[in-house]
Amino acid sequence: MRTHYCAQINEQHIGEVITVAGWVASRRDHGGVIFIDLRDKDQVLQLVCDPTDNTAAHKVAEEVRDQFVLIATGRIRARGEGLENPNLKTGKVEMVVDKLVIENRSKPMPFEIGDEKVNEEIRLKHRYLELRSQRSYDIFKLRSKATIAARNALDSLGFLEVETPILTKSTPEGARDYLVPSRVHHGEFYALPQSPQLFKQLLMVSGFDRYFQIAKCFRDEDLRADRQPEFTQIDVEMSFCDQEDVIKVAETLIHDVFTKCGFEIPTTFKRMSYNEAMEKYGSDKPDMRYDLAMVDVIDIFERCDNEIFSNIAKTPKKNRIKALKVPNGDNIFSKRQMKGFEDYVRKFGAQGLGYFQMKEDGLKGPLIKFFSEEDIQMIIDRCELQVGDVVFFGAGEKKLVLDYMGRFRIFLAQTMEIIPQDTFEFLWVVDFPMFEVEDGRVKALHHPFTQPKTLDYEDIEDIESIAYDIVLNGTELGGGSIRIHKEAMQAEIFKLLGIGEEEAQEKFGFLLDALKYGAPPHGGFAIGLDRLIMLMAGTDSIRDVIAFPKTQRAQCLLTQAPSEVDAEQLKELNIRIRQTVTQ
Ligand code: AMO
Repeated sequence: MRTHYCAQINEQHIGEVITVAGWVASRRDHGGVIFIDLRDKDQVLQLVCDPTDNTAAHKVAEEVRDQFVLIATGRIRARGEGLENPNLKTGKVEMVVDKLVIENRSKPMPFEIGDEKVNEEIRLKHRYLELRSQRSYDIFKLRSKATIAARNALDSLGFLEVETPILTKSTPEGARDYLVPSRVHHGEFYALPQSPQLFKQLLMVSGFDRYFQIAKCFRDEDLRADRQPEFTQIDVEMSFCDQEDVIKVAETLIHDVFTKCGFEIPTTFKRMSYNEAMEKYGSDKPDMRYDLAMVDVIDIFERCDNEIFSNIAKTPKKNRIKALKVPNGDNIFSKRQMKGFEDYVRKFGAQGLGYFQMKEDGLKGPLIKFFSEEDIQMIIDRCELQVGDVVFFGAGEKKLVLDYMGRFRIFLAQTMEIIPQDTFEFLWVVDFPMFEVEDGRVKALHHPFTQPKTLDYEDIEDIESIAYDIVLNGTELGGGSIRIHKEAMQAEIFKLLGIGEEEAQEKFGFLLDALKYGAPPHGGFAIGLDRLIMLMAGTDSIRDVIAFPKTQRAQCLLTQAPSEVDAEQLKELNIRIRQTVTQ
């Protein structure tokens, strides 16, 4: 219907008659002459309907309202002197309309297209209108580019794209499953995949050697700004590889995708062990765009005259005393802010927040009286304190301290506004523990198919695994591992996890069986595509980069899913809904 997209039109077209098609972004009636900004997928062109040039077109223009669908034909001319719009790609030209057709009308909009301040509920209910904005179009253009770049990168590395089932059996990625009842097998359910993990491993047993998939995954878990119940992974698996091989593929892939999308990033990323990340940054996904690293001072506190601290310091395996220095903090923070910091960490279980200030005449602070001259000097040296610095302390049980100090580090960086916005800081976090023990129960930190470095251990939590995460600007972008490819080791891991033989057979029997038929050494990773786009697009909500996302309560406000179903449908599935009584 059109001869040109608006974006294609420029001064070279002056004098040409062309046809454009799109929506009315705005309409202005300047006492006779009507100006219409016509917008197609990604650009605006100014249409001029002058009654002295063409009465018929002007008559139609009088009827036109916002977001009507128009097809306009006319001659391109240069805009008058001083009337150019430098903000538009087409800002030097306009179309003198000869023929104007209203292809469709529109009700008044429920909100102004592109207005991000409108209540999100209203925007999600009319998501197709929100997607009509320039910003959304740009995001989805980026997403499309990145997805195609990922496919091409993996294709050139010899990976084969294979689809795996959506109606399947539970895959243990740590979330709850979405279940689908079977009509044919009453009382039985499919699970939607939390990831294609087990199938991609099976494809390695098949000898496919290098597999990838742009895979939809489903997880019923508490939602956050970077989580959706249904999301997409760039999922990869390869055979006869070690951790280095997998990391190389992931770096090549990420580098290719960023480059194709117009961003410059390094070809290899820094690495840090899980332990170092936790001890220095209190997180397994530290944001490396700023420093604020913690240092250990537990040995110095052991000698202090305060019983609370010296007692904590007596068991350094179980407890931590961490110092977090803020350069020049003493000059930046008000008394009220310092109090606010204490309130902040208390929310995460801290008993309090100690601090020292480095003044001209030495180290000061409420706790200073408990330390010897020598130890005060040790604190100054260990934290490399200079006049004007402030250093905060967290003391207590290891997990708790690392957690609240890690959160505090981020909170400080946000408060001080020191986080650079237009930069990508990648980090590999490697050497993850294989297990964690929670309330006496052993759990796999990644998933139970990850290969441990050893199975000789004194403390089960000290066993490291060959698992790695890719972190970008403090967000977990992806993760993976070298897998267990021997049945005996897999059985051993299930045993350590308290998964009995019968249960293992029932849940993953097919995998255990496959491992008996010549499974090659293999490993892989998955990158969250939505998170990748979110970070590239510089938005802080994953909903912005998913065409039809769900709310924090896992609802689709557009389609009203989830919704009740017909009694007839339930009957076919042999399902009866129990009435829950709410008090
Ligand atoms: P993992 O569970 O770490 O690993 O997931 C990989 C990546 O997927 C993204 N992701 C999500 N994105 C949006 N919403 C969610 N609810 C969500 N959950 C996860 C994250 C995450 O880093 N099978 C393994 C990979 C492997 O070992 O190969 C797996 O799924 O970006």
